Amino acid sequence: MKCGNFDTNATALKQRIQTHERYGANDLNTWIFDHFQLQEGLSVLELGCGTGKQTLPMAKLIGSTGHIVAVDISQEALESVFRSAQELKLENRISVVCKGIDGIGKYVPKPVDRVLSSYSLYYAESPDAVFRDLHRLLNPEGILFFCGPAKDNNDELKRFHYSLAGTQPPKDSGAGEFMEGTGQRLARELFATVEVFSFDNPLRFDSADALYAYWAAYNLYDVRLENEFKAMAKQYFQSQQCFETIKRVVGVRAAKRA
Ligand SMILES: C[S@@+](CC[C@H](N)C(=O)[O-])C[C@H]1O[C@@H](n2cnc3c(N)ncnc32)[C@H](O)[C@@H]1O
Repeated sequence: MKCGNFDTNATALKQRIQTHERYGANDLNTWIFDHFQLQEGLSVLELGCGTGKQTLPMAKLIGSTGHIVAVDISQEALESVFRSAQELKLENRISVVCKGIDGIGKYVPKPVDRVLSSYSLYYAESPDAVFRDLHRLLNPEGILFFCGPAKDNNDELKRFHYSLAGTQPPKDSGAGEFMEGTGQRLARELFATVEVFSFDNPLRFDSADALYAYWAAYNLYDVRLENEFKAMAKQYFQSQQCFETIKRVVGVRAAKRA
């Protein structure tokens, strides 16, 4: 899938993560770690680590004997991971690698126990090759967990946006199609056991400013609609106390051994 404007922008990513933490009813990381089966001493490959939302808590969970190779295409995001890791004295447990997901098999030298990819595996240009590499890189007891948006993710915000744009929403973002289609199919072709999970996180905005700030850091954002969006959000909150949009997440856990 092609990267959009906000997909590699570390500042926009931080803004979205803060919004999820402030306005979200549920916690994505708790759900991920409930399914990822991490233990002390494990080696982890993380694809599309962003600013380290999962990397840093994972570094605590794997302890001083574990290690994480955290890959991202954004140097800015990786610098943020490294700074946070230093502040938390976790930098010895994390190696950051500024590269794309495609070609992963060429630059990760050693087998790993776990692969995590939260909101990023669908950026692979050749997902078939990436899945083959991941399957080969994983130890026999290894587990791959990837998650991302369902096709109906944030439908409420999409409706709000497209009523303004005066156009029909595109059929799918590509990411939803990957999470519900291609990604699951590729996992099933290679892995012995594949399980699919879902997670809903309602975001409840309490003001027009909060709703606008989220949209402005989201891939629906369109500079040409900026004033109209602000006006429509203001109008909405004149009669309503809350705007709710639901982050709908699909998670896939693939184990090498049955
Ligand atoms: C939505 S963020 C997810 C970050 C983090 N995993 C999280 O859940 O907060 C997607 C990340 O994927 C990275 N990315 C996009 N395309 C990539 C590619 N082809 N290879 C590696 N990373 C990529 C972006 O730079 C961004 O940091």
